[in-house]
Amino acid sequence: MTLTVRELSFSYKDRVVLHDLGLQVMPGSLVCLVGPNGSGKSTLLRCLDRILWPSRGDILVGGASIKSLRPRELARRICYMPQNHPLNFPLTVVEVVTMGRRPHLHFRPSDSDRQAVLWALSMLGLSGLARRYFDELSGGGGDKKRF
Ligand SMILES: Nc1ncnc2c1ncn2[C@@H]1O[C@H](COP(=O)(O)OP(=O)(O)OP(=O)(O)O)[C@@H](O)[C@H]1O
Ligand SMILES: [Mg+2]
Repeated sequence: MTLTVRELSFSYKDRVVLHDLGLQVMPGSLVCLVGPNGSGKSTLLRCLDRILWPSRGDILVGGASIKSLRPRELARRICYMPQNHPLNFPLTVVEVVTMGRRPHLHFRPSDSDRQAVLWALSMLGLSGLARRYFDELSGGGGDKKRF
């Protein structure tokens, strides 16, 4: 699906973080968002997943505005995985990734869900971490690299 961001603006009260931002990401592409600390990268990602509501502009996923999508439909199209996400249970990496299938499930994961999870891990080069506990991995920052 194509992701389109049009004339997006977002402020935390009077602190303008995103101003008139435009972006298009084509299906199948892998994009890295790079910028100085505090420049608004996480804010943009939170707007994409409707955690934050922009003051102006629109975001379309697969041609539909995220404003008009029901939560389950939005979750099928876009997913936000923050770097620091406290979990209260000792879940493994494969279990955490399986939670990403939640909007596609009826009750429990099917074989095709399990295959989708294994495919996602493999695509990201993370198959070797599948059985590790999620909360024992490095988050990718700081000096506690424990991968
Ligand atoms: N909840 C909030 N309330 C007020 N201001 C915020 C809030 N969250 C972030 N900001 C401010 O918005 C700006 C953008 O923050 P954001 O977290 O999006 O930056 P970032 O590019 O993700 O930074 P980093 O590289 O450190 O992750 C910063 O000036 C930050 O202080
Ligand atoms: Mg950030």
